[in-house]
Amino acid sequence: MDLSTSIAQSHQIPKSPVKMLHILLLFSFLLSSSPAAAKDFCVADFKATQGLAGYQCKVPEEVVVDDFVYSGLNVAGNFSDISKSTINTSFVDQFPGLNGLGLSMARLDLSLGGVIPMHSHPGSSEVLLVTQGSIIAGFISSNNIVYTKTLKKGDIMVFPKGLLHFQVNSGPVPALLWSSFNSSNPGLQVLSNALFSNNLPSELIEKVTFLDELEVKRLKALFGGSG
Ligand SMILES: *[C@@H]1O[C@H](CO)[C@@H](O)[C@H](O)[C@H]1NC(C)=O
Ligand SMILES: *[C@@H]1O[C@H](CO)[C@@H](O)[C@H](O)[C@H]1NC(C)=O
Ligand SMILES: *[C@@H]1O[C@H](CO)[C@@H](O)[C@H](O)[C@H]1NC(C)=O
Repeated sequence: MDLSTSIAQSHQIPKSPVKMLHILLLFSFLLSSSPAAAKDFCVADFKATQGLAGYQCKVPEEVVVDDFVYSGLNVAGNFSDISKSTINTSFVDQFPGLNGLGLSMARLDLSLGGVIPMHSHPGSSEVLLVTQGSIIAGFISSNNIVYTKTLKKGDIMVFPKGLLHFQVNSGPVPALLWSSFNSSNPGLQVLSNALFSNNLPSELIEKVTFLDELEVKRLKALFGGSG
């Protein structure tokens, strides 16, 4: 058989395989189109066990509109005596509809003189909006350059992923701030808690921070640490 006949033959596809191809195409279209609706979202199933990758998806038939609505940010959380502030988060652990969407929010309230102490979100960048009051906000880059600015109502500022940052109420009224994150579970690590609210031995803290013993003991007492 020469080349031209073999090409000609390959074009003469018999009738029944064409039909089968159509059926296959239709079948795969049906298969891919009906579960496509299920892939629109993966509402966290708080009842199922959580794997390494996070929450499992709630069965689509059990998903309701309230999975996509969270009303827990309509009031401030409890104020801390130490920082005179409160952070009320709507991360995926509180708000199941966020699961898998790479988004979350938080509400920050600062009384007069209040601060959100130095902290970081290991897995997420943040954008912060001031809706009441005035604050000094800032972050420190990984080569220790400080970026700080006084923000007033309506200003927004971004805090790049993982960097240490803070907010301080600069008065003269309480401040209300709203943050959003590009993660449904951004994490929140407060530096003073990392150092002083656990059982890391004081001698080690003194060594690694260059603080003196009295100051370490004072801060351990303040933040509830031991050792
Ligand atoms: C956030 O506010 C809600 C009330 O809307 C409350 O149930 C929740 O405990 C608060 N969270 C924190 C961390 O204070
Ligand atoms: C806030 O304080 C109230 C009253 O002391 C307490 O019942 C509640 O559990 C606290 N909420 C949080 C999130 O700590
Ligand atoms: C959020 O954005 C940063 C870049 O700013 C990226 O490195 C990070 O992976 C993102 N986080 C998630 C959970 O997608």
